[in-house]
Amino acid sequence: MTAIFTSRPDVNLPVAPLLKPVTFAGLPLASRFVMAPMTRFHSPGGVPAPEVAGYYRRRAEHGIGLIVTEGVWVGHPTAGHEDTVPRMTAGAAETSWRRVVDEVHAAGGRIAAQLWHLGSLREPVDGLEAWTPSGVREPGRPASHAMTLADIDELLESYAEAARVAARAGFDAVEIHAAHGYLLDEFLWPFTNRRTDAFGGSPQRRAALPAAVVRAVRAQFPADRPVIVRFSQFKERRFDAQIAETPAELDAILTVFAEAGASALHASQRRFWQPAFPGSGLTLAGWAKRLTGLPTITVGSVGLTRDFLRPGGPESVSGLVERVAAGEFDLVALGRILLRNPAWVTHAAAGQLDAIVDYRKSHEDTYH
Ligand SMILES: Cc1cc2nc3c(=O)[nH]c(=O)nc-3n(C[C@H](O)[C@H](O)[C@H](O)COP(=O)(O)O)c2cc1C
Repeated sequence: MTAIFTSRPDVNLPVAPLLKPVTFAGLPLASRFVMAPMTRFHSPGGVPAPEVAGYYRRRAEHGIGLIVTEGVWVGHPTAGHEDTVPRMTAGAAETSWRRVVDEVHAAGGRIAAQLWHLGSLREPVDGLEAWTPSGVREPGRPASHAMTLADIDELLESYAEAARVAARAGFDAVEIHAAHGYLLDEFLWPFTNRRTDAFGGSPQRRAALPAAVVRAVRAQFPADRPVIVRFSQFKERRFDAQIAETPAELDAILTVFAEAGASALHASQRRFWQPAFPGSGLTLAGWAKRLTGLPTITVGSVGLTRDFLRPGGPESVSGLVERVAAGEFDLVALGRILLRNPAWVTHAAAGQLDAIVDYRKSHEDTYH
């Protein structure tokens, strides 16, 4: 693997500092690059198809230190509705995931399973109402069910079972999807969480359900393997939404996660260089690390065009490397650019800009 990390001396590409091996939450990684979780619809019946193993292995072969799988539904019937999105359940899905993990390991990579529940975004295709904190729905969305305390217990057991399956399948880590407006994020966001019990109200109480999920997963997943929590301010359908209006509110939420046993945080932004709050240049991942001391992952529009690799402003490779060098965050996730360019890290490291295809929306329909 070392050969691909040899930068060409005639090309001034400061990507090299991101290519050194690093230990993240106790996990040794070949580089600081992460593959961001991306839903791919290649798992009929919830079982990853044979091509899924090769898809992830190619990214591991080409310098991605940690792969985070596409969102994988926990086994609860309300978690999701589409047939081709994978599940983390015992039986055929577990067997198939083990093959995926083995192939990534054979290439020297590490892989985390992202555990997901759609919340209000589940379609009622089989008559089942979506599960939500308070039954709040966007205009035009079908009615949804406000979760009872018994439902919460059932949900926690689904996450615990998914963690047991992920552990048996050999995953190096799990990532709990608490971002982008899905169920756990709907608890974090005051607009969708109107509860008056222990799971609603202050930022700490809004964090209580996602934190209970962290605890349930932590208890079932081997102690030496990280449990990562992914969170965001924005929602997939509301870019201006916020779970925390101030650093103090963010502190309250993330401290609850840390106390529940989160080993690391994945702060999802749409553009990695943008400040999270007025009055400071710190990004969301930077705040997460400063407030909790936990290792963090940044993400958002890294490397979408080849221009990124020409040293320049804060949104270029040099801006990114400066933030890593300053200890603002630890790992850097790549999403869309990896869809069409599985070897992006290899090409970036070697200065082979001609081999890179700039991101286009149509790449989301391809499977390389
Ligand atoms: C096709 C596609 C599918 C995605 N699926 C997921 C997902 O399953 N879970 C998740 O947390 N984020 C998902 N995301 C968001 C990405 O993980 C990432 O945060 C986002 O694309 C921004 O990074 P980028 O600018 O490098 O693409 C998805 C994004 C895309 C483009």
